[in-house]
Amino acid sequence: MSRIPAVEAIPTGIVSLADHEQHARSRLDDNAWAYFSGGAADEITLRANREAWDNILLSTRVLRRLVGGHTRVQLLGRTLAHPVLLAPVAFQRMAHADGEIASAYAAAMQGAGLVLSSQSSMPLEQIAQAMLGEATRGPLWFQLYFQHDRGFTRELVQRAEAAGYEALVVTVDAPSSGVRDRERRVGFKLPEGISAVNLAGLPPPKPVTLAPHQSRMFDALLTSAPTWADIEWLKGVTRLPILLKGVMHQDDARFAVVNGADGIIVSNHGGRTLDTTPATARVLPCIREAVGKECPVLVDGGIRRGTDVLKAIALGASAVLIGRPYVYGLANAGAMGVSHVLRLLRDELEIAMALCGCATLADISADTLFN
Ligand code: GLV
Repeated sequence: MSRIPAVEAIPTGIVSLADHEQHARSRLDDNAWAYFSGGAADEITLRANREAWDNILLSTRVLRRLVGGHTRVQLLGRTLAHPVLLAPVAFQRMAHADGEIASAYAAAMQGAGLVLSSQSSMPLEQIAQAMLGEATRGPLWFQLYFQHDRGFTRELVQRAEAAGYEALVVTVDAPSSGVRDRERRVGFKLPEGISAVNLAGLPPPKPVTLAPHQSRMFDALLTSAPTWADIEWLKGVTRLPILLKGVMHQDDARFAVVNGADGIIVSNHGGRTLDTTPATARVLPCIREAVGKECPVLVDGGIRRGTDVLKAIALGASAVLIGRPYVYGLANAGAMGVSHVLRLLRDELEIAMALCGCATLADISADTLFN
């Protein structure tokens, strides 16, 4: 561990992820709050993600012998202690001075996987160093945004490989960022001293002069957006498994697998890109059906309870990711806060499994849901 994050106490009265969220409001300024908690436009998808989990009911089972049960799961050749990973979230030093290193430390302690954002506010090598030596750690993956300069993108991938990252998570749902009203209202800007340090040195895009009839989207921004051909190119330049994050259509999921993706993350970017897309809980079963039993399918969006994790597994997920909740934990108590969020979720998952009569994740099925 290159730098041990500060040990902080969990503020009294916080017993759930929702409590963490509520407390974090008083720890974050309006700028950071708008960035981390906001969604796209009217935030219909942001709310739908949560409501969808709430609207799924569980079926309890009684008197089963569950001794020796566990939450372990196999994913891309590794055994995970439990199926919860930390999703890529940018600029974590906006939430706490220890930033991504605190999240890495907590993930390692709690056996959770970590997906580091391309837009991390700390060097990717430093995060890898913090995590790789820890015996209890979960998988360490790197989230990739294709940059307009493919040479720079290749170098970034090579840096991640050299640092010990074990998979690439390519975010494919955000060739343009969403309509972020909350950010616009506060005039969001990165605070002094916080930046996407791993993208330093990226040559600026060639300036485009648009004629009045041309589109800023189709004639400028999208000219460097990735396509399926870029996924093929990426496979040629890396030996790491590739997961595509942001797949919400069955045909895209099938196409991803045919084109060599090693896994799918069903995600609507936490409701931050296109508003009024469906909740991930609703889309997940169709994606699982489209890609078959073997392909890793992960899901994120609105997971706040152990029961939500169980429901995701019942709908076909191999594992889940959480984003905002751990950033709130980070804001509240640094590494201890992130650790607390992970522990709460795992404890709640175990309680839910026990009460639904499931000793292992393999025992969770569509039957675990009440229809
Ligand atoms: C970045 O991926 C963001 O959602 O802000």
